[in-house]
Amino acid sequence: MDKKLRDQFRYFLKDTVRKEVDFSQTAQSRGIPPPPLQKPCPVDGKRIALAAPGTWQGLSSPDLITAIGDRRSHRNFTKDTVSLDELSFMLWATQGITRKANEGTAFRTVPSAGCRHAFETYLCILNVAGTAQGIYRYLPVEHQLLLEKEPGNLAVRAAEAAHGQTFIARTAITFIWTTLPQRMEWRYDIAAHKVIALDAGHVCQNLYLAAAAAGCGVCAVAAYDQQKMDKLLGVDGEDEFTVYLAAVGKI
Ligand SMILES: Cc1cc2nc3c(=O)[nH]c(=O)nc-3n(C[C@H](O)[C@H](O)[C@H](O)COP(=O)(O)O)c2cc1C
Repeated sequence: MDKKLRDQFRYFLKDTVRKEVDFSQTAQSRGIPPPPLQKPCPVDGKRIALAAPGTWQGLSSPDLITAIGDRRSHRNFTKDTVSLDELSFMLWATQGITRKANEGTAFRTVPSAGCRHAFETYLCILNVAGTAQGIYRYLPVEHQLLLEKEPGNLAVRAAEAAHGQTFIARTAITFIWTTLPQRMEWRYDIAAHKVIALDAGHVCQNLYLAAAAAGCGVCAVAAYDQQKMDKLLGVDGEDEFTVYLAAVGKI
């Protein structure tokens, strides 16, 4: 291992960087308005309504202690369909807005450094009741799904973009989280990037726990082909790029 390179990556895990940031000069301190809570949507985009928080049907209620104790990663799924209610719940549990503080800040079901929530959630949907296969994006502000695109041969392409991990082709849904780093950089400048990575962990852990109530299993996935995954989603790879995935299916 190249020592210089190793030290650079270890540095990333430390908080030394905070001392290098002049917080009086961040975009926030300079009075620049915060980036929007979610990416803009085309006005004529096809949207799907999701079950509102608390109205979900068909969820079981494993107690929290059992859900935490039984949590495991799953790579083998049945062919059973995930319901839209179950998906609605898992989306709310991972990125749902619980209270809007102002135009640029909203509290969600997961914590985030400085409440910046620098993620968008895309879904590669293969087997959700009443929902065509495609790439969708969760709109937390409206609690809706937006159809982004319907690529052909989606299961195979998604697995290829996950470095050939074939279980991705057999899941009902793959959650694909991108980051828009600017949302975090607005407040933390170059101290933004480590906390984005930390935030992603909370999101995925909530998915593992929420999936237990939906009769689903989850496998977190950090090994993927950056270019292929970004291309599959249609994001630019610079101001928005994939950081983490999770396969979800019935078990
Ligand atoms: C950050 C992270 C990345 C992971 N990436 C992958 C992956 O790319 N492929 C995979 O099959 N499992 C992946 N996993 C799942 C781990 O292999 C799994 O969590 C580990 O073996 C422990 O098993 P458990 O989750 O059942 O406790 C990942 C887990 C985490 C937390």
